[in-house]
Amino acid sequence: MNYQKLKEKYGTPLYIYNVDVMKENIIQYQNNFKSNQFETEIIYASKAFNIKAMLRLLMRYGLSLDVVSLGELYTAKKVGFPMQKIYFHGNNKSEEELRYAISEEVGIIVVDNLMELKLLDELAKGLKKKINIYIRLNVGVEAHTHKYIVTAHVDSKFGVMYDGKEYREMLEVLQNSPYIKLQGFHSHIGSQIFDLAPYDAVIEKLVKMIKDFDRPLGINLGGGFGVSYTDADHPIPFDVVSKHLIQTMEAELKNQNVRLHKLSIEPGRSIVAEAGQTLYTIGGVKQTPNKLYYFIDGGMTDNIRPALYEALYHADIVGKENQFKNKIATIAGKCCESGDVIIENILLPEAAKGDLLITYSTGAYGYSMSSNYNKALTPAVVFVEEDKDELVVRRQSLDELLEREI
Ligand SMILES: Cc1ncc(COP(=O)(O)O)c(C=O)c1O
Repeated sequence: MNYQKLKEKYGTPLYIYNVDVMKENIIQYQNNFKSNQFETEIIYASKAFNIKAMLRLLMRYGLSLDVVSLGELYTAKKVGFPMQKIYFHGNNKSEEELRYAISEEVGIIVVDNLMELKLLDELAKGLKKKINIYIRLNVGVEAHTHKYIVTAHVDSKFGVMYDGKEYREMLEVLQNSPYIKLQGFHSHIGSQIFDLAPYDAVIEKLVKMIKDFDRPLGINLGGGFGVSYTDADHPIPFDVVSKHLIQTMEAELKNQNVRLHKLSIEPGRSIVAEAGQTLYTIGGVKQTPNKLYYFIDGGMTDNIRPALYEALYHADIVGKENQFKNKIATIAGKCCESGDVIIENILLPEAAKGDLLITYSTGAYGYSMSSNYNKALTPAVVFVEEDKDELVVRRQSLDELLEREI
């Protein structure tokens, strides 16, 4: 990657996506997540990175799409994404969002709770439209990075408890609704997961759930497959993850003597994270009594994850990747917040004003969580495919920043 050239062409900060990496990730999932016993589906969780160019790339590969808001859904609509391939999630979808999803004939609405189901039923009756749904279940399996607890995480804001009163009431609503058809169950147990055992526990529980029905239903296992941000992360290759989930499901179906219509997964981060990098220019270097700061021209406005949940990243000074790393530096952004730090204490070579700094694995939840705090302008996004770069999101201008202000 010629970072200097990209800086000259597009400026910094700059989000750079290697499209070849995203394509490879998609192909890995597609080639391995398949079974001859049931249908399979890969649904990209677009909250990780939802822009028109990304959705067009997914369309080239025939992936399905998970959206969680009117905005994400509207982006899909604007690029002509097949509405039937969309799963609409969310724990508090508004009536406006549901109406829009129904009128656009979104494939599946993933219903979070009883209140939503009742509202959906009313809307469906009013609009005289049939609606296919999944129910999001809290299956009591919580996965946090390397740890998992197979006890009910009862206070999650997502889904209904799989064995609770609310769930049973939902089944009653469904029995009495000529408009709403249950197509399956959904569970998402967390993110950046490096262990497949929690998914095995989910599979066992969900197969038990669908056993109660007189027709084969679908199971959506959500996303959460871990990626590498630093050397400390050891993700399981996607082909291994995919094959494991398929084989575990096939074995469990046999074990419980159940038929499954479709198995889906919803990877977000694992498709885009490692394909993305963020390019910054170092504007200054400051030595305090105990710290050496490298100041970058972006920060928490283009990558909130370190400030939000202490996410770790790796970085290099462009052109000095192989130089002796003799400085322990803290990469700080330009916001008026002490917490505006992208990387704390990273070993790097000496840097000077004007050097370029690259942070790796920033493709997921970076751009999509960006903000205009301190009235920072949202950076441009560039796709690089077979060494050709293409601008896919323009840098926000000052006038665009003020566009909606009256
Ligand atoms: C319902 C659902 N599906 C899929 C995902 C994607 O997770 P990840 O990006 O970790 O793969 C999320 C992330 O929060 C989610 O909430």
